[in-house]
Amino acid sequence: MKALVLIGGFGTRLRPITYEIPKQLIPIAGKPMLYHVLDLLPPDTEEVVLATGYKAEVIARHVREHPPPFPVRCVSEAEPLGTGGGMRNAGDGMSDPFLLLNSDVIAAIDVPALLEHQRRLGGVGAMTLAEVEDTRPYGVAALDPTDRIERFVEKPTPDAAPSHWINAGCQAWRAEVLELIPRGRPVSFETEIMPKLLPRGVYGYRSYGFWEDAGTPERLLNAQRLLFDAGRVGAFRRPEGSTGSRSVAADPSVRATGARLGPYVSLGAGVTVGRDARVENSVLMDGVVVGPGAVVSGSILGPAAVVPAGARVERSVLGAEPRA
Ligand code: GTP
Repeated sequence: MKALVLIGGFGTRLRPITYEIPKQLIPIAGKPMLYHVLDLLPPDTEEVVLATGYKAEVIARHVREHPPPFPVRCVSEAEPLGTGGGMRNAGDGMSDPFLLLNSDVIAAIDVPALLEHQRRLGGVGAMTLAEVEDTRPYGVAALDPTDRIERFVEKPTPDAAPSHWINAGCQAWRAEVLELIPRGRPVSFETEIMPKLLPRGVYGYRSYGFWEDAGTPERLLNAQRLLFDAGRVGAFRRPEGSTGSRSVAADPSVRATGARLGPYVSLGAGVTVGRDARVENSVLMDGVVVGPGAVVSGSILGPAAVVPAGARVERSVLGAEPRA
């Protein structure tokens, strides 16, 4: 089986960090978000195709330098083609069925069970559904008693939402679906293609594991918390000489003697945290410096950000201005 990962979005809700770094390479719980997404794939996955666009060359370099445990190929778009257009552009040679993953969904999804659901029920595909309270930012599905999706409403107002079960960003499709997507122009898979697929049979697969769309700062930090709590951590270590909780994932080069770290903290290469400083529920990317006695809480600090001694940074995203 092959997997297609949509990874071409701008990540506007995570600016300014995403001016420099595509959101899928922001580390949470010790490794970039993308690698947590790839953890969902079965070990016998034949190939992963990354449908890239924004910052395509940064992503291609990163996967070359840090190869995931599957063969990976990047297919990039010159102009953003949307979710459907990205699938069409990168989908040549997909397996039947193939998996489609969003690159910012942090979840515990049983992918083999999704594939089995699709095989057993037939139709053209199966969509993993997660139950959420606020359905407004998502595609919402109404199922019949056989789990067939009867209606799919993208980003509904609360009174128009047919249920609380939303598109979890992990789907199994028959290869024929790709042929229904026009080539060479932007296409929204959710609004333009889904209505054509429903009459052919699309089934919902309800997932009860944790799920988070790590597209905003609050949700990204919540996704990190869920991963730590589930023990799905890239590098699970607290730097020597620091105190605090166990849920700290630090690069071996981090210096944090006398600092208090955690819970839920990722520290990138070369990070320095001064004496009596406190860092909790945060992501500090490579080269961040936190001065002595400073406090960082609920924040995402981009590469080389500096927090002066004694300063307090709360619920903030720090990053560089876009380059001219
Ligand atoms: P925001 O700008 O903050 O909304 O983030 P985003 O651009 O990632 O958008 P969104 O979270 O809605 O995208 C869902 C998934 O589709 C993500 O994995 C995106 O990377 C991906 N995606 C969005 N637009 C495109 C596109 O034009 N081409 C490709 N290949 N992928 C896309």
